[in-house]
Amino acid sequence: MKKTRVAVLISGRGSNMMALINAAKKPSYPAEIALVLTNCPDAVGLSHAQAAGIATAITDHAAYGRDRESFERAMQEVLGQYGIDLVCLAGFMRLLTTWFVARWEERMLNIHPALLPAFKGLDTHRRALSAGVKIHGASVHFVAAEMDSGPIIAQGAVAVREDDDAETLAARVLEVEHRIYPMALGLVAAGRVQVVGGRCVIDGGVSTQQALIVPDIEH
Ligand code: GRF
Repeated sequence: MKKTRVAVLISGRGSNMMALINAAKKPSYPAEIALVLTNCPDAVGLSHAQAAGIATAITDHAAYGRDRESFERAMQEVLGQYGIDLVCLAGFMRLLTTWFVARWEERMLNIHPALLPAFKGLDTHRRALSAGVKIHGASVHFVAAEMDSGPIIAQGAVAVREDDDAETLAARVLEVEHRIYPMALGLVAAGRVQVVGGRCVIDGGVSTQQALIVPDIEH
């Protein structure tokens, strides 16, 4: 069966990108990472993608000044050249216009380091700690026009520890990110995710046995 051709868009270190690349090595995985595209010529993740034998491209946003749509049209052209079916944002630090989002409706995924709809935006781990939440985590969702919103495909949670700081919490959430992003992409690429009334319905369901955190104390 023909695999879904995926472009991963990055701006930085690319650890989620690597999780997707590694998952896609499995012959039975329904997607192949056909391209890694960055807006930052010095993104660390670029060299990791190249070392993994993945095609890379740079569309530097700086060349387009404030004209976001021209920048996106340039990216769109590259995506077209590579015959891309699905886009995965993985630490891609540019806000996207409705023009681009509409072109990739239900074909563009993002990973966000919080349990959406809580803690949209940046600096999620510090804000989660200040809010005193006991459970934090990550979400993979289809991209909608509004930042960090859109139908949620998968979420994973971690318990917040009393001695956590933003770095220790981020590290545990990142491990969850690396598990749920390949899973979510696999589901979408296999055609198992349908958006119904703004919510994702997963064909065949997903086992939730390991997914719940129920706190306990000793008496
Ligand atoms: C991740 O925490 C992701 O959730 C957020 O940006 C970070 C990117 O990290 N959107 P990496 O580049 O995948 O290592």
